[in-house]
Formats: sequence, structure tokens, C-alpha cells
Amino acid sequence: MEAASEVVVVADAAELADRAAQSIVDSALEAVAARGRFMLVLAGGDTPRRTYARLAAAPRRDAMPWASTFVFFGDERCVPLDHADSNYRMARETLLDQVPLPSEQVFAMPGDAPDPDAGAVAYARTLARVLGLRRGEVPRFDLVLLGMGLDGHTASLFPGSPVLKEIFRPVAAVHATAAAIPQRITLTLPVLNAATNVLFLVSGPEKAKAVRAVLDERALLPAGMVQPEKGRLVWMLDHAAASQLRR
Ligand code: 6PG
Repeated sequence: MEAASEVVVVADAAELADRAAQSIVDSALEAVAARGRFMLVLAGGDTPRRTYARLAAAPRRDAMPWASTFVFFGDERCVPLDHADSNYRMARETLLDQVPLPSEQVFAMPGDAPDPDAGAVAYARTLARVLGLRRGEVPRFDLVLLGMGLDGHTASLFPGSPVLKEIFRPVAAVHATAAAIPQRITLTLPVLNAATNVLFLVSGPEKAKAVRAVLDERALLPAGMVQPEKGRLVWMLDHAAASQLRR
């Protein structure tokens, strides 16, 4: 069954960051009240930088239940963890190093693993351990943040990739020839679609065509295949990214 997506359009990138940071706080408080902990998946790329910075600053910083928050990643480029293109490094600099989050509650994807397939298997084991999963059980995160590329990719799920058909593995190594850093590790669709909340953050006029393709034209692009089965799906767009929508 297809989830209904909510589309929230805000003025600009600054408001997007502000609203998204507040959404993260809201999801965190809800998750901690319901389940005692907040399992958060961060997005990579550039768009979330400002959101992370807002979350790391007052008043959001002081409203977050950091001691009960556990941080994971939706995808990673296969580069050393301190490389300029590392999603972990971006999150560390903008958010993780700025807040009282216990470092043992942060789970970087092993982008630095010599063998990305082995790195993906190791991360799947980490998820099973930290989330306390039974064999074969799909991880259910409280909030998954995602971005979208110009071609409709999300996390490291690129158009035409065989990994889009993955039904068993929660984490996979992928080779995306179209990407500047082709070798990557990503969560797979079954995991994204098991989340309680999925929040897409999309900003800028260059994304408008892909936004229209996914939300209006229902094109079969990876971002459009994120349809949480029982969860809430929100697309948060700035005005420029929403400018080609017919609604
Ligand atoms: C990555 C991503 C990727 C990203 C989109 C949007 O590691 O590259 O996680 O899916 O979210 O490419 O990236 P921007 O926000 O930089 O446009």
C-alpha cells in the first residue's frame, strides 16, 4: 500500500533548515516518550548542513534528548572518514561534535573499509546489535532524513541500480558510475520503507524538475520508491524546489 506523502513548502533554504530541525526535535521527543530512545538516520550531501547547524544551536540543541539519541547514516561515500566528501565528516563538523551526544551512540558507516561489501555486512551487523533485531528482522528507525539528487537518487540508491530490487540485505555496497565518488554504501529500500518517519529535505531550483517527476508525475525514480509502509512520509521543499509542482 502506498503511503500518502505530505508536501510542506517553505520560503527558502533558511526556513527549510529551521523547520526541519524542529521536526527532528518533535520526532525525537515522540520516540523517547513512546519507546525510550530515538533512532535517527542522517542524510548526506550538502542540503542538510544548515539543518544540522540549526539543530546544534539553541533552542533546538537544549530541547533534544541527546542521552537517548542514537545516530546512524543513510549512505556513505567510500572515502576515509575525515575526507572532505565523507558524509560522516560533514555530520560530525556541523552537528555531532557540537552537541552532548555520547560518541558511543554514533554509528558511522564504514566508508573507509577496504572492501565495501564487507563494510556493508559489518554495518548490517551493527544495526542488528544496536537495535536488538531478531534474525531477518528489518530495522525500524524513528526518523530517516533523506535528500534527493538531480537524477532522483536518494541515499545511494541511483536510477537503474540493481540494489533497488534488494529485499533481504538492509545495507549494500553500490557502484554508481554517475556519481563523483562512485563507490558507496547505502541502506536499502526495505529499511527506508520500514521507518516510522521519513523526511526528505530538498532545496534549490535545480531540483525542481526531479521534484515534479517524483511527486506529480510519479516517475519510477529511487526517491519515489521511498513509501514507508506504516510510517509518515514528508517532503519538505523550499519554494524554488517546489516551483514546478502543479499543486
Ligand atoms: C550522498 C547522499 C545523497 C544526497 C543527494 C542530495 O551521500 O550523496 O546522501 O543521496 O542526499 O545527492 O545531495 P545535495 O543535498 O548535496 O543536493
